[in-house]
Amino acid sequence: MTKDIRALEFFSGIGGLHFGFNASGAKGKVLESFDMNQQANDTYRLSFGKTAVSRGIDRLTVKDIEKYNANCWLMSPPCQPYTRGGKLLDDQDNRAKPLLHLLDQLEKMATPPTYIFLENVKNFETSRSRERMVRLLHKMGYVFRECLLAPHNFGVPNDRLRYFLIARSRSSFKEATPRSSTPAVDSAAQTFDPEKEIIYTTWPLPAFVEDPNISIRQYPFNIPVLRYFLDQEENETKDYLLSRQLILERPNFRFDILRPSSNRSSCFTKAYGSHHVASGGGLLQTLKMDQTEYDFGNSESIAELGLRFFTPTEVARLHAFPLKEERGSECALETDDTNEQGSNVDPRTLTTIRVYSPKLAQESNGPYLQFPAKLKALQRYKLLGNSLNVWVVAELLRGVLFADHPGNPLPIYRAEDMTASALEQASSTESIDTVKHGIEEQGESAPDGDAEVRPTRDKKRLKAE
Ligand SMILES: C[S@@+](CC[C@H](N)C(=O)[O-])C[C@H]1O[C@@H](n2cnc3c(N)ncnc32)[C@H](O)[C@@H]1O
Repeated sequence: MTKDIRALEFFSGIGGLHFGFNASGAKGKVLESFDMNQQANDTYRLSFGKTAVSRGIDRLTVKDIEKYNANCWLMSPPCQPYTRGGKLLDDQDNRAKPLLHLLDQLEKMATPPTYIFLENVKNFETSRSRERMVRLLHKMGYVFRECLLAPHNFGVPNDRLRYFLIARSRSSFKEATPRSSTPAVDSAAQTFDPEKEIIYTTWPLPAFVEDPNISIRQYPFNIPVLRYFLDQEENETKDYLLSRQLILERPNFRFDILRPSSNRSSCFTKAYGSHHVASGGGLLQTLKMDQTEYDFGNSESIAELGLRFFTPTEVARLHAFPLKEERGSECALETDDTNEQGSNVDPRTLTTIRVYSPKLAQESNGPYLQFPAKLKALQRYKLLGNSLNVWVVAELLRGVLFADHPGNPLPIYRAEDMTASALEQASSTESIDTVKHGIEEQGESAPDGDAEVRPTRDKKRLKAE
């Protein structure tokens, strides 16, 4: 009988991992979530109708965890110990404790989870915490993949480069032999070198179990422009305009100015929307749309552009959270065109390749992300800035972690699904606003250099893309 996936969600926040789990199509459910932030937990309760356990994760015992009989751990621990620009205290930072504590519990468990998924910031890959984690996973017989990927790698116009670890117990592979850069435990325990592990930087990653009949091909796709992610009503956005005064006070201040026709946006941090105007995310130009060159020395001219923050709802869309959209047929997100040139992807490939399409992310019948009405915009930005991209999680779960879990939808990126006409169409639509992003060929012929990096502490070698 098929064993369902029974997941625990640690550091659940507003439930990005839970939404990602749902969007992955995994057969199973998230049994319990754990977080201590009251506002995040209120949001989680409203969205999922379930209350997260608000006890400190660093106080959970093996018994507390084992009672769920879970076979999957989803984790997105605090990133401050590893954030560039922070103090970089790594495992000496108190905020690293709950993760390290979980690793200690993992080692003691009679039946450790089959599946482990972890998200963190770029830079985690060079940390002592990561080294401790992969050494333990290797010792315990897990096979794992590590990568540094951003939503734009998956077709979402947002930059949020993150580290992901996807681990699966070696014993769970029945007849098939997992392909791993990690050698078998018994023969090479002493020779395992965390610094030699590959950190992939292109998508898709090589599957754990490779089918010799399937080769992953380069697949070109267009990234939808921001227009599809924007609120439609002026009254939804008017409160987010930057005051003229604020711009005039900042001559020579460089804002990242984005237009509805842009197919990129910068990472929205938890400081977005605050008085640190230019930190953590771009601003949207709403006036003088034929102006595409900006003279930052002339703040008068910048003040004419009608610059505004993206609203929390727009940020949530860019993070691919399912929302209860009530805008009817006028809603731009109802289109399945993924760019302004119209649909250029064979519809059959959407279920197999699953290049991001706003429609795919919005088709869910719930749960949806819902903030309690009492939460102000700044509080929402903060929660969203702490969160993650749901679509990236969904695809990493679907395409890698649960790839051959019985009963799950096929995650394979099949060459035969990429019809010649789809490829021809896709490759004939490049324009200024819709830059194509190819998926690199991986596997045996994985290119060196850009496709992967090593988790060395020598930062010069950490060129992800
Ligand atoms: C990077 S955020 C994860 C956000 C989450 N993935 C989401 O989608 O919103 C880290 C979370 O860990 C929580 N946290 C930090 N230390 C904790 C602890 N000791 N016990 C429980 N939760 C903790 C924080 O409240 C925060 O929500």
